[in-house]
Amino acid sequence: MVDTYVGSIDQGTTGTRFMVFDHSGQVVGNAYEKHEQIYPNPGWVEHDPLEIWENTKEVITAGLDDAGIDAEQLEALGITNQRETTIIWDKETGKPVHNALVWQDRRTTERVEELQEADKVEWIREKTGLEADAYFSATKAEWLLDNAEPLKLQSSRGGNLRSRAEEGELLMGTIDCWLIYNLTGNHITDVSNASRTMLYNIEDLEWDDELLDEFDVPEEMLPEVRPSSDENLYGHTDADGFLGAEIPVAGALGDQQAALFGQTCFDKGDAKNTYGTGSFYLMNTGTEAVSSDHGLLTTIGFQMSGEPVQYALEGSIFITGAAIEWLEDVDLINNAAQTAELARSAGSTDGVYMVPAFTGLGAPHWDGRARGTIVGMTRGTRKEHLVRATLESIAYQTRDVAEAMEADSGVELTSLRVDGGAVKNNFLCQLQSDIIQTDIVRPEVDETTALGSAYAAGLAVGYWDTVDELRKNWQVDHEFTPEAEPQTVDKMYDRWHDAVERSRDWAQE
Ligand code: G3P
Repeated sequence: MVDTYVGSIDQGTTGTRFMVFDHSGQVVGNAYEKHEQIYPNPGWVEHDPLEIWENTKEVITAGLDDAGIDAEQLEALGITNQRETTIIWDKETGKPVHNALVWQDRRTTERVEELQEADKVEWIREKTGLEADAYFSATKAEWLLDNAEPLKLQSSRGGNLRSRAEEGELLMGTIDCWLIYNLTGNHITDVSNASRTMLYNIEDLEWDDELLDEFDVPEEMLPEVRPSSDENLYGHTDADGFLGAEIPVAGALGDQQAALFGQTCFDKGDAKNTYGTGSFYLMNTGTEAVSSDHGLLTTIGFQMSGEPVQYALEGSIFITGAAIEWLEDVDLINNAAQTAELARSAGSTDGVYMVPAFTGLGAPHWDGRARGTIVGMTRGTRKEHLVRATLESIAYQTRDVAEAMEADSGVELTSLRVDGGAVKNNFLCQLQSDIIQTDIVRPEVDETTALGSAYAAGLAVGYWDTVDELRKNWQVDHEFTPEAEPQTVDKMYDRWHDAVERSRDWAQE
């Protein structure tokens, strides 16, 4: 009998990965491609949806090659994606009408301030579990419908976008939806991604009429919302298409929810932190949507076919891994791997703090006008100190959300499962354990985002039968325990808060 596998497309902020997993959850094939980051104005971030789709096809082909298997050996495809990033495309041509507005894009900050002034923050939180912020899709969609037309569209057809949307000529979606559409021809999203749009009511589980009115988004353009693991399937790839095979597309999860799933956080109280472009700390709260008093988000974790949705509390930190990329951009380092050695050699930051609020601050501060700040430099400050301060900022930001999580959930943090690219860095994991004063547990498969969406798709088609099978696949690679004195760390952490204050409310527009 021929061996079979599940494939996972992980479409992230900086690139697209395809991974092939076997039944034991091990990676047997892997391919990755970066895409262009487009910054048309300060604070604006765009991606080209067509480039993302082309890269997706390329990495799938390369990933199958890497695994040495044929497309027919895939029992299902799952998708996981950078969340909130918003695309509008032409229903007839399938072509985007504009670049995607990326989750990091701050161009709608003023609109969010209008919502704050109009006392709509609580109203939005009650419906969506989200903090009114430019991070989410709603104000991005509104901006596109209002402004995209004058900006030389990529679409072959012109015309006012809002009226075209009302006529049912345009479709909107997050990246999962864009990929499902291109793979299967169907306009579908999953509940975890829908919950990040600020248009979806997470209690009623439907697009919210009042929010659609507020942001003037016609319902006609929105996708059908399905479970994250769907026995009814989102559709099949086209046998005459690039894959040359009809493969069921059966699972989709926003990347942070996928990591929660891949870390087998299936039960209430289970939590993980993923270190990617940003870091996202999620705790499963079961079938109850727990609201936050400490600046966290309430969001949909996942939904299995025929089961109720499971909710999560989330601490969204916008910039962590991207701060290391920035060190590279400004030539302080040649590659991320160097940071450990440089930071270790510094011994301490010598009083330097770096707050990487490049795109504002997310949880628990929510300040769209905060900007990147370095404080405490002296004539003796060296690049080693700056590198160490950058790594420390990742750990401090995680402690900020961990403390909020404890306060909101009443669950004391005893150990934290971590994943994502940056956790390969042992120095960072130890630093995290010291700063958060708890055990940090790194699993064997650290690409849990891709694994999570493979699990969702594989469960839908019966490649795996139960989540208990998946729990058995989860193995510890390394556990880091705190080595630093709590009093020393607490003092450093207090000073971190002072640095955060200096970064706040900086941007003028
Ligand atoms: O909410 C944004 C998040 O989904 C981005 O994830 O891994 O692309 O940084 P990542």
